[in-house]
Amino acid sequence: MEKLRIGIIGTGSISHLHMAGYKELEAEGRVEIVSCCDLDEGKLNRYCDKYGVARRYTNCEEMMAKEQLDCVSVCVWTVNHAKCTIAALKGGAHVLCEKPMAMNAAEAEEMLNTAKACGKMLQIGFVRRFGEDAETIQRLVEDGTFGDIYYAKAIYLRQQGCPGGWFGDKAYSGGGPLIDLGVHVIDLTRYLAGNPRPVSAFGVTYDNLGPHRASGSAGWTIETGPEAHPYTVEDLCVGMVRFENGLTLTLETSFNLNIPGDVGDVELYGTKAGTSLSKMNILAVKDHQFVTFTPEEPHSFRFQLAFNAEIRGFVDASQGLVPCKATAEDGVWLMKIIDALYESAKTGASVAIS
Ligand SMILES: NC(=O)c1ccc[n+]([C@@H]2O[C@H](COP(=O)([O-])OP(=O)(O)OC[C@H]3O[C@@H](n4cnc5c(N)ncnc54)[C@H](O)[C@@H]3O)[C@@H](O)[C@H]2O)c1
Repeated sequence: MEKLRIGIIGTGSISHLHMAGYKELEAEGRVEIVSCCDLDEGKLNRYCDKYGVARRYTNCEEMMAKEQLDCVSVCVWTVNHAKCTIAALKGGAHVLCEKPMAMNAAEAEEMLNTAKACGKMLQIGFVRRFGEDAETIQRLVEDGTFGDIYYAKAIYLRQQGCPGGWFGDKAYSGGGPLIDLGVHVIDLTRYLAGNPRPVSAFGVTYDNLGPHRASGSAGWTIETGPEAHPYTVEDLCVGMVRFENGLTLTLETSFNLNIPGDVGDVELYGTKAGTSLSKMNILAVKDHQFVTFTPEEPHSFRFQLAFNAEIRGFVDASQGLVPCKATAEDGVWLMKIIDALYESAKTGASVAIS
């Protein structure tokens, strides 16, 4: 089989994890990492020097016009996900676009429609679906261990954990912890529950700690100077999402909260058993007794391993070897949920999702 030709758009933090995944496949002779693109030429050059990539661009349309690429990772600021993804799809590549899919559902739908029109695959960077923890729980869900899952909690709370810079600037990020962190746990919960269709959402956001929480010691600071990004996103979002199959999901997610320590978890409650993904102890009823057990297979979430599995899954799916595990359709549903939660936080009412 011919080596697939790979391109990466955006050479910031997360692109290093994508590159490591492609390097693994390059070592197996399956892909060739052909070209990279970033608006920031200095950053682009440092990245390409580090990984030995010769062909470099500061404009993604130009890269797509000049290169014949089979698969492209889009790892840019969220505000540019739609633009870069559409350019890559129209340029003839299958695309893996980082999460969140877009700034809102309208952009996400345009991306999905472009993928369909171009006959290309668009995968969304829901990397948590590729963790060993998710795989273990999914196997148990498929075995019927949980029965019908009717209640779930998605939790991603940070005490003072805004990544800083553009992540705190709504014009670039689309929002705060809901769109940045909540997207991971809402998606993972929905995925493990069988991707049910959302029907309504009720959300509340708070922004009363905000930039006052920034401190160098916490690992992030509010930028200063003429080029600085303002801090304009929420600190906390709590919400509830209802699904067509009767599932109710509650959400808690924060960049800033007076909580003793950071917490990340997905909890699932079914008619036969319940579990917390982080604790991985399953409570079930057997012979009229409560029993708890922990599956013996690996069940931690290891960041780089999950990214390697995600990139391998993307490349395999682009060749039709496996189905795409994180589809653009699911990305659109996630953006609809996020839009509805933000809308509800504005109006104070529950918002229908269709
Ligand atoms: N899956 C995860 O767990 C995870 C973790 C962190 C970030 N992310 C996502 O990855 C994306 C990038 O985040 P990051 O932390 O790497 O940000 P970053 O700021 O470190 O890097 C983004 C890069 O994109 C470049 N860029 C922006 N617009 C561009 C364009 N039109 N063309 C070319 N380059 C462009 C910027 O110059 C920058 O170098 C975000 O959407 C973020 O939500 C995902």
